[in-house]
Amino acid sequence: MRILVVGGGGREHALIKKLSENRSIDKIYALPGNGGIAYLAECVPIAATDIDKIAAFAAEKSIDFVVVAPDDPLVLGLVDRLNDLGIPSFGPDKRAAIIEGSKVFSKELMRTYGIPSAKYRVFSDADAAIDYIKAEGTYPTVIKADGLALGKGVIIAVDFDEAVAAVKSILSDKAFGKSGDRIVVEEFLRGPEVSVLSFTDGKTVVPMISSMDHKRAGNGDTGLNTGGMGTIAPNPYYTEDIADRCMREIFMPTIEAMNKEGRTFKGCLYFGLMLTNDGPKVIEYNCRFGDPEAQVVLALLKTDLFDIMQAVISVRLADIKIEYSDGAACCLCVTSGGYPGAYKKGLPIAITPANGTDVFFCHAGTALKSGKLVTSGGRVLGVVSVADTLRTAVAKSYKYVKNVSFEGMYYRDDIGKKALKLKK
Ligand code: AMP
Ligand code: GLY
Repeated sequence: MRILVVGGGGREHALIKKLSENRSIDKIYALPGNGGIAYLAECVPIAATDIDKIAAFAAEKSIDFVVVAPDDPLVLGLVDRLNDLGIPSFGPDKRAAIIEGSKVFSKELMRTYGIPSAKYRVFSDADAAIDYIKAEGTYPTVIKADGLALGKGVIIAVDFDEAVAAVKSILSDKAFGKSGDRIVVEEFLRGPEVSVLSFTDGKTVVPMISSMDHKRAGNGDTGLNTGGMGTIAPNPYYTEDIADRCMREIFMPTIEAMNKEGRTFKGCLYFGLMLTNDGPKVIEYNCRFGDPEAQVVLALLKTDLFDIMQAVISVRLADIKIEYSDGAACCLCVTSGGYPGAYKKGLPIAITPANGTDVFFCHAGTALKSGKLVTSGGRVLGVVSVADTLRTAVAKSYKYVKNVSFEGMYYRDDIGKKALKLKK
């Protein structure tokens, strides 16, 4: 089997590590991959968004199976292109990926099918949006660009002036280009957040072990939003009762709604949930594995990932049993100084291996330059630890982060702290 994984972040490193455990896979290509992935796969410098080149590469190399990991190629229709070539691919087609590609679509889907979510209105006119925000008069209020915006399209405005600035920057100044032709103005929800990734073949939905992301750059959830500064799994807020309720009120209804819309979703559907006083509500859907959620979820997954992915594609998910380790996992993200703002690239990285410790350095923004490892992105790597308890997993990530060093490196001091407090 020759497989190809599209993407080059920490999530893709975690996916490739897991896939490489499958004995039937002889060769893995990563497009474009990164400095850590290069030890497990052949990295080819084709951008994850260049769907023409990716399709041509897959055909030329007689690839047997493709995993499309990031949102943009899914939303652009890479899976449709590969399917046209007869190449089995894991990930939703373009019609289904719209669940992440358009927030207006996902909000309308939830409203039509009674799936709990925040109250909202859609606008394409800045003045109309501002009039509505003024009339509502409740802050914070949430303003979202309709389309993909590199994780920056959600603005939580704490007062009227911030809300006006957000509306104008998206609708008038086109800060996110066409992704901001429409906005969603949404009620601010309160409560602990839970990420639940799921496998679905359009008939069956199998939630993976729950996790908790830490999105803000600073300790105590302060500072700017990032792609994610660290994760833990399982999420202690996500009890069995809540899981049952989510299955009944959110997960199955979403799968059925997509089927009714003629947009059957096959792949990994990510439910971003807020556990409010009125019950669990959807904050967002993603059409792919979360990053850095995948790092902790896959670290605990015991079942062969490739078997699961093949079952998804052939609509046999109900036939397989998916199991996780009993313990817990932590991914502590190490970033370039300055991230999510401007930061330097190309800085040499030193890593002392942590052999035999159940610690895995999951590379994200790293590259090999003349055989030497250097930084190449904002999130540089994640220190992923597995242990019997969450406390030990978190402690291990903080111990072994000391094995990593590069100029200006930064990480939060409190990944897992909120979850551990609840456990006391
Ligand atoms: P997203 O980019 O859609 O993942 O949103 C980024 C973050 O904004 C989420 O993880 C939440 O923390 C926050 N957020 C989004 N929508 C809401 C909402 N309606 N109420 C409160 N927080 C929200
Ligand atoms: N960690 C959040 C995301 O992948 O969207």
